[in-house]
Amino acid sequence: MTDSSRDAIERVAAAIAAARSITALTGAGVSAASGIPTFRGEDGLWKNVRAETLATREAFENDPRLVWEWYEWRRTLIRDAQPNAAHHVLAEWTRTRSASLITQNVDGLHERAGAEGLIRLHGSIWHVRCWDRCPAGGEDWRDDRVPIGTLPPRCPHCGGMVRPAVVWFGEPLDEAVLNSARAAAACDVFLTVGTSSVVYPAAGLIPDAKAAGALVVEINPDATGTSHVADVTLRMKADEALTAIHALTP
Ligand code: OAD
Repeated sequence: MTDSSRDAIERVAAAIAAARSITALTGAGVSAASGIPTFRGEDGLWKNVRAETLATREAFENDPRLVWEWYEWRRTLIRDAQPNAAHHVLAEWTRTRSASLITQNVDGLHERAGAEGLIRLHGSIWHVRCWDRCPAGGEDWRDDRVPIGTLPPRCPHCGGMVRPAVVWFGEPLDEAVLNSARAAAACDVFLTVGTSSVVYPAAGLIPDAKAAGALVVEINPDATGTSHVADVTLRMKADEALTAIHALTP
């Protein structure tokens, strides 16, 4: 660790210790140390496949089986992964410091680390929804079988198709979820961890937090779409940075 990153870690730890409210926004980089591929990195998911062929309503309409096969492959990878130190530190802060935790990740690792009150902006890969939103199947439900069954799976209520309950490109975020995230962005210390900050409205929470007066801390080995907004930048891996900060905030 360089002297400047040591200074930055001490500054962040002091700010967290003094903060009345802390919020973290996470992206795929927080799960990288658990072995889950990110979207835009060197081996990122969007390097091998075009998002629009797998993560849109049109893709599902054209070939629901292909879309489900991709989600089942991701479910298999994620099922065998374990939360890492970054998930554990953030989960502990939700319990002991009433920190708000907002994630773009659908992998469920924050939940498995014991995070409380998690705000899931992009849904969950472990939840499914009736494609037709039939009256009896109107709510998402959890189905974490791997494999999930005949593809595409069928709605137990109407027999129609079931889709993953994640947000696809071109789809709006759940309004209530987005409102809670926006409310949480108004805090004393806002950490943005392991996200490239190019997907909106999630990335918009970072300038929102800054405008509300938060100290904005970016934890990411690389520059992001909102690096210019950060007050403190830690060019480190999420698990290493959060472990170091946590060690100074008993
Ligand atoms: P990206 O793949 O776009 O960005 C991952 C970020 O994590 C990059 O900025 C990396 O530099 C950083 N990173 C890699 N390893 C890291 C590590 N060990 N510690 C910390 N950071 C690390 O993923 P997201 O920003 O999450 O949307 O992508 C946002 C959304 O785009 C996703 O939720 C998904 C995707 O399309 C939907 O599916 C709707």
